[in-house]
Amino acid sequence: MLTNRPRGTSDILPADIHKWYYLEDTFRQVCHQYGYGEIRLPIFEHTELFVRGMGDTTDVVEKEMYTFNDRGGRSITLRPEGTAGAVRAYLENNLYAGPQPVKMYYLGPMFRYDRPQAGRYRQFHQVGIEAFGSHDPGLDAEIMALAMDYYTRLGLSGLCLQVNSVGCPQCRPVLRQRLQEFFAPHREELCPDCQSRYHRNPLRLLDCKNEKCQSLGQGAPSALDCLCPECAAHFAAVRHQLDLLGVSYQVNPRLVRGLDYYTHTAFEILVGGIGAQSAIGGGGRYNGLVEVCGGPPTPGIGFALGLERIILARESQGLPWPRARQMDVYVAVADAAAADRAVRLLTELRSAGLAAERDYLGRSLKAQMKQAGRLEAAFTVIAGSQELEQGRVAVKEMSTGEQHTVPLEQLVDFLQGRMR
Ligand code: HAM
Repeated sequence: MLTNRPRGTSDILPADIHKWYYLEDTFRQVCHQYGYGEIRLPIFEHTELFVRGMGDTTDVVEKEMYTFNDRGGRSITLRPEGTAGAVRAYLENNLYAGPQPVKMYYLGPMFRYDRPQAGRYRQFHQVGIEAFGSHDPGLDAEIMALAMDYYTRLGLSGLCLQVNSVGCPQCRPVLRQRLQEFFAPHREELCPDCQSRYHRNPLRLLDCKNEKCQSLGQGAPSALDCLCPECAAHFAAVRHQLDLLGVSYQVNPRLVRGLDYYTHTAFEILVGGIGAQSAIGGGGRYNGLVEVCGGPPTPGIGFALGLERIILARESQGLPWPRARQMDVYVAVADAAAADRAVRLLTELRSAGLAAERDYLGRSLKAQMKQAGRLEAAFTVIAGSQELEQGRVAVKEMSTGEQHTVPLEQLVDFLQGRMR
């Protein structure tokens, strides 16, 4: 028990962290270029925020939240996603009172109590963006372009962007009713989840994964059949803007997404080769959410992308990772009398901005050289008391095996020069 991590969580070890830096740094760069600023949100929020924000008929709220009472008796939930928290922060910090749109991005862990499998975890990581205060269909298209741009910069190929419009509070009731009418004769045959969805959230009947429900749903009305003129015009404008930006996409009229807050545009990005959990990202508009959370009527739109699934997709496509950060210098001690000076040398190298390491286990010189090799240090400085007395050290360039004698006062310049 003590040496087992909770199911559905993982340790990201130092040997793998460069992958995460790469994904995160690239995301920060893309977001900055599209005018988004980073927001850091709490990992936990009041439970009520998620229940109200995501809707109490969503799977996430019904069965997947990590909810507990804190010591003050308040109900707290580990965030299952970032949108509700971003809305709360937008309101709490009066960001709606400033210039709009407000464009923010975030990265970090999310928590859902789901059945773990490849690509599905209980603690997973998302990068996401949220933009508040604009109805412009150009913004819908631009955030999809941003997501696709990000994947492209990561080298991913074979992605499919699926887009739909799920309507607004005016046209949604029409769709709900038509779906109920369509499924009414087969209600008893639906899976237990869908039988409850039939009353509580009929839209979700469209994206049940159960084979029987899928076959019963053949020919069911879709959101696109029921859009009001305003939603239809918005969706047409979004598609026009996607074409303008050169983003390829497929319209999927059955795409409804798992969270209740969506209005108008909804989209998902799928990739093959990573198993059943092929959605590597998704998002859409949520024009009613700010109001539901107690704010002024404010349109919003955003997406989130799963980093573990991006890693799986990159690895299944055989894409190489950028090299891990390297150790610049290993300071080896040739004899005990040189040890104190070697420690000072190490500090001097670090102060000059070099990554420098030494031995802490009393290893022999030979073993220290071996350790320098394991750490992939670019250079090993060999500090021997005799050379130090003469104001010099030996420097081994690890890639070539070449050895140099370098005066101490020139050591930093020498190393930096060779590294360049
Ligand atoms: P979501 O579709 O629930 O949307 O999650 C977005 C992405 O997070 C998924 O496409 C997937 O890549 C990843 N993901 C979700 N659950 C898991 C899991 N259990 N394990 C691994 N990866 C997972 C949202 O979260 C919305 N907040 C997106 C959004 C932002 N919509 C508007 N703004």
